Parts: sequence; C-alpha cells; structure tokens
Amino acid sequence: MKEKSKQEKTLLMTRLMTPDMSNFSGKVHGGTILKLLDEAAFTCASRYCKTYVVTKSLDQVEFKNPIEVGDLVTFKCNVNYVGKTSMEVGVRVEGERIREKKEYHAISSYFTMVSVNEEGKPMEVPRLNFESDIEEKLFEAGKMRCAMRKEIQARNKKLHVSLENWIKIWS
Ligand SMILES: CC(C)(COP(=O)(O)OP(=O)(O)OC[C@H]1O[C@@H](n2cnc3c(N)ncnc32)[C@H](O)[C@@H]1OP(=O)(O)O)[C@@H](O)C(=O)NCCC(=O)NCCS
Repeated sequence: MKEKSKQEKTLLMTRLMTPDMSNFSGKVHGGTILKLLDEAAFTCASRYCKTYVVTKSLDQVEFKNPIEVGDLVTFKCNVNYVGKTSMEVGVRVEGERIREKKEYHAISSYFTMVSVNEEGKPMEVPRLNFESDIEEKLFEAGKMRCAMRKEIQARNKKLHVSLENWIKIWS
C-alpha cells in the first residue's frame, strides 16, 4: 500500500438513474437525489480529513431541471472551506441525457460536514493548502457563507414559536 501525500479535496461521483428511483410522474424522486447528494458530500469530506464525518447542515437546495430515469448524474464535490471542526463541501450536480447528447445543471448546494471521533465528538480538521487563486476565492466565499449561516440561525431563533402555541394549531 502507498501512503497518500497530496490533500484530496475533490470528488466526482457518477450514477445512472434507474427505474427504482422514479416517482409517480416518471422523473427521479427528489429524496433519492438528496440521499445521493449527502453520500457524495460525506465521501468527499471523509476522504479529505481521513476521519468519520457527520452532516451538520445543508443549505437551500433548488432543483433547476427535472432529472429523468436513464440520465447519468454526476456529483462534483469540493472542500471549499474548513473551520476548526467543520468543512463546507460544495456540490454541483450535472445531468446527462445520453441518447439526446444533452447536459444540464440540476442542483448546486453546500453541505457543512463535521469531523467526529469515535465518541461522535467534533475533532479538528486539517487546514486547507491552497494550490490556486480559485481555491483561495472558494475559501473566502465559504467563510462568508459560514458567517451567514450563523446569522440565519440567530435570526431563526427569534422567529421561534413556543411548543404550547404550536400545539394549539392542531387542537
Ligand atoms: C455534529 C455534532 C457532533 C456537533 O456537535 P456540537 O456540539 O454542535 O458541536 P459544535 O457546537 O462545536 O459545532 C461543531 C461545528 O459545527 C458548526 N455548526 C454548528 N451549527 C451549525 C449549523 N447550523 N450549520 C453549519 N455549521 C454549524 C460549528 O460552527 C462548528 O464548526 P467549527 O468547529 O469549524 O467552527 C452534533 O451536532 C451531532 O452529532 N449532530 C447530528 C449529526 C447527524 O447525525 N447527522 C446526520 C443527520 S441524520
């Protein structure tokens, strides 16, 4: 076995959309795609930090184009940003309608993955070594999104409806 020295920040995962993935309208079920998104982000983050990771959060997901059975779907992942114990993994999902020779952008999203030890507690992740200006730009953008997530979390807390009031809706 050879020891790997270079940081592994990227991942490409391609899957064929099979009939068992379809919903009632014959398109691919959104939940199936979300599961694959999570699998790709997990693999990319885990391979980068060489530990087990968990999904902490997922930013807004917009399905830009329907994905059909028979399409080839590629999940293009990159570790954009790392904090102390967390990583932002950007995932761009591209579809390919093979016989029509057409490609489309299906989804882009950002996952926050946290590296965890055997007790499931957060542990430090390796610092990112930049190999290009683009990587530095991705890092800065990821840092800003990380701050935005914290702000959204704080603002959402203020919108919180107490459990007693929530229960009244159902009675
Ligand atoms: C992930 C987990 C171990 C983190 O524990 P925690 O006590 O919240 O740890 P911390 O508060 O130290 O946060 C850990 C990191 O997550 C980040 N974080 C916390 N809340 C966040 C959020 N809502 N969105 C993005 N990042 C967040 C923190 O900023 C921190 O990152 P940093 O160390 O790089 O600064 C714990 O929340 C957990 O086990 N969650 C369940 C994960 C899971 O089961 N996922 C699968 C879903 S089915």
